[in-house]
Amino acid sequence: MTLVPLAMRMHFGRMAVVIEVGPRDGLQNEARTIPTDVKVAYVDALTAAGLLEIEVSAFVSHPRIPQLADAELVFQRIVRRPGMMAIALVPNVQGLERALASRVDAIAVFTAASETFNQKNINTSIDGSFERFVPVMTRARAERLRTRGYVSTAFWCPYEGKIEPAKVALVAKRLADLGCDEISIGDTIGKASPDEVRALLDVLLPVVPAARLALHFHDTFGNARANVLAGLPYGVVRYDASAGGIGGCPYAPGARGNIATEVLIRTLRGAGAAVPYDLAAIDKARAIIAPYVGHPLNAA
Ligand code: HMG
Ligand code: MG
Repeated sequence: MTLVPLAMRMHFGRMAVVIEVGPRDGLQNEARTIPTDVKVAYVDALTAAGLLEIEVSAFVSHPRIPQLADAELVFQRIVRRPGMMAIALVPNVQGLERALASRVDAIAVFTAASETFNQKNINTSIDGSFERFVPVMTRARAERLRTRGYVSTAFWCPYEGKIEPAKVALVAKRLADLGCDEISIGDTIGKASPDEVRALLDVLLPVVPAARLALHFHDTFGNARANVLAGLPYGVVRYDASAGGIGGCPYAPGARGNIATEVLIRTLRGAGAAVPYDLAAIDKARAIIAPYVGHPLNAA
């Protein structure tokens, strides 16, 4: 029998939500070209499993992220289930125009707490990213899209090392002030420890309430599960994950996949949270994508 720590038991019965990012974060870093129809089948299998909040693809520069250059086709072909929130990563107005033409339900803008990472990833500074976001967010609100804002390198940067929580809180507050419905805090290189998660949430929660936060853990050093358990007692009930644990960013060398959706669901259930997804159906999504990624999937 799993022993649930006292702080966890307070969450018994509380609903937790998984935001599935496999089709975007999971596939953007794969070396092999994955056929569009396989991506569509992967998305459809995930939404059939109840993972209705799903990052389907990204409307970014094709030479920068060639794996997602078929974003329009994927959005065109997926099944739109009732209650589904089809999310797209959007870096600028050009990306938003593409996203609107593809009938997205939500967009995710993305910046970082590290200047160097931002330069490498999106070719601009933190301030520069916000200049791009202002017209994106104005239009997104007018179109009644739901909006997420990512803060990458929220714990460690592959170029600058440890990132101070105060810096992260500043960027998260700017995204919140800009009107992002949700702020997703990214451990981009999967190096955070549970103590670092607690230290960040101590500083962050007075600035952005838990109800507006999601946590996005990559699992390079095997801490992602413990990091989720560190987030729960703070009242954070929304977590990003990728089925099969695939994922990584081409501009974050060495980063491994996101916490696997299957592992996250078991972790949340073990902590007493109510989580509605169908694990057997998620296995079918794993089976669809497994032959096309260039490496074994993470343990289910
Ligand atoms: P830029 O490099 O500054 O250049 O782009 P630009 O704005 O001058 O545009 C250069 C070319 O890209 C032009 O084409 C534009 O038209 C085109 P050209 O005239 O040379 O033929 N372009 C676009 N094409 C399609 N869609 C667009 C678009 N925008 C410009 N939206 C930009 C800036 C941000 C677009 C570029 O640097 C880029 O796309 N970077 C990719 C970043 C990325 O996708 N990284 C991975 C996702 S972030 C991540 O994984 C972290 C996360 O998971 C959280 C975590 O783990 O921490 C979210
Ligand atoms: Mg990521």
